[in-house]
Amino acid sequence: MKFIWHGQEIEVEAEEGHTFLDIALIAKISPPYSCTEGHCGTCEAILDNGERVRTCQTIPRSDFHVIDYDKAQRN
Ligand code: FES
Repeated sequence: MKFIWHGQEIEVEAEEGHTFLDIALIAKISPPYSCTEGHCGTCEAILDNGERVRTCQTIPRSDFHVIDYDKAQRN
């Protein structure tokens, strides 16, 4: 999967059973987050150019996702 953050595209291997936030943290991407419980919205990103998701609560369905933090910050 690919994360977009601070203008960079970062390819990462999906870790089964982990949330997008967990995967980003394991890859040392340093994405935005706070509560990690789905309440604050700090971790929101745009998934596959479509829906806005809270990455701390969302588990990938495949290894081909694009998670765009930059686009979520602009909206
Ligand atoms: S970190 Fe607060 S909703 Fe995800």
